[in-house]
Amino acid sequence: MPQLFTPLTLPAPKGPGLALRNRAIIAPMCQYVIDREDGVPTDWHLQHLGSFAAGGFGLVTVEATGVEARARISPRDVGLWTDEQQHAHERVVTFLHSQGAAAAVQLAHAGGKASTYPWLPGQPDGTVPVADGGWTTVSSVDGPVLPGLDAAKGLTVAEIAEVVAAFADAARRADAAGYDAIQLHAAHGYLIHQFLSPLTNTRTDEYGGDEQGRTRFVREVAAAVREVWPDHKPLGIRISATDWLDGAWDVAASARLIRRLADEHGVTWVDVSSGGLGGGATIPVGPGYQVPLAAELTRQLADLPLVVSAVGLIDEPIQAETILATGQAHAVSIGRAALRNPHWAASAATRLGVPRTDIPQAPQFWRADW
Ligand SMILES: Cc1cc2nc3c(=O)[nH]c(=O)nc-3n(C[C@H](O)[C@H](O)[C@H](O)COP(=O)(O)O)c2cc1C
Repeated sequence: MPQLFTPLTLPAPKGPGLALRNRAIIAPMCQYVIDREDGVPTDWHLQHLGSFAAGGFGLVTVEATGVEARARISPRDVGLWTDEQQHAHERVVTFLHSQGAAAAVQLAHAGGKASTYPWLPGQPDGTVPVADGGWTTVSSVDGPVLPGLDAAKGLTVAEIAEVVAAFADAARRADAAGYDAIQLHAAHGYLIHQFLSPLTNTRTDEYGGDEQGRTRFVREVAAAVREVWPDHKPLGIRISATDWLDGAWDVAASARLIRRLADEHGVTWVDVSSGGLGGGATIPVGPGYQVPLAAELTRQLADLPLVVSAVGLIDEPIQAETILATGQAHAVSIGRAALRNPHWAASAATRLGVPRTDIPQAPQFWRADW
């Protein structure tokens, strides 16, 4: 059996952990489809996410999901702070389970990169003005997080506690909706990353300064979430393992952070992405360009009960298989290749020689013969 189609367990602090039928994970992908701008997942989400489950993926990660209204990247994004949102998530999760996939939700706060126009054809760049349904954003400090965005307002210590509580509330709702795993969004220049990186965190209080200070916010979020999230369910995190700039956030800092989150807060899954804070970084984008970051964390953190997933331009089944077979990661997260072909996992199974009877797919696809 190819590595990609070997089952994988995401460990949890108690119990056997979360068993996945294979190592192909759907990366979170914002859809910007909610016309009502109320954060409630729609039929689009059901079919978008559902097709990945029917198409054989082991774990489907739901897009960046705002833990409060101002946490959304755009007004058309998913949230998890109301009962109505929770019930709509539950409908999606129930369907994913019916197709043999596990369900994760990416709990997110976009911070100073919130309230932007949706990344859809014909949409402008930048911050949506308050008059047009946008909002004043928050961040680690006052000012724009990136050129072209409106200035964010730096959170006070009391306001940080409210955001931490919002993450915990969303985690409680994620459990009630039936999710199997949470992925905290600490990557791509959003709020947690805005605290982690010296590029955007110039605070002088206990939430800034040295690594201990800059990592305090994410450690508090992980602690608060772990407290309400059942012990038998895995808690994961997506990080930007590097800002791709000297003197900024890097792989060494990422390894120290993940070790601490694993030891102190029961984090058992890290999805390794990169970038998101600009700063003139040169990113060597190409096939599998972030895999070396995952490989480094896999190597340095091998003694922990931790699953490392690699992501970024992993498009080909043989490429995914090579990453796993050479021990560079334990799983792969697939984004755009799955947008192009939601049944990527089932077709990859055929390409890698999995016997027809073991191909992860909805029985309705049996005659597809891939
Ligand atoms: C349409 C789209 C939406 C995305 N939304 C998110 C998101 O909600 N959260 C996130 O962490 N990354 C998001 N990403 C990044 C992907 O999860 C992934 O890391 C990236 O696309 C690289 O993987 P790929 O080359 O397999 O697509 C998005 C990417 C795309 C293409």
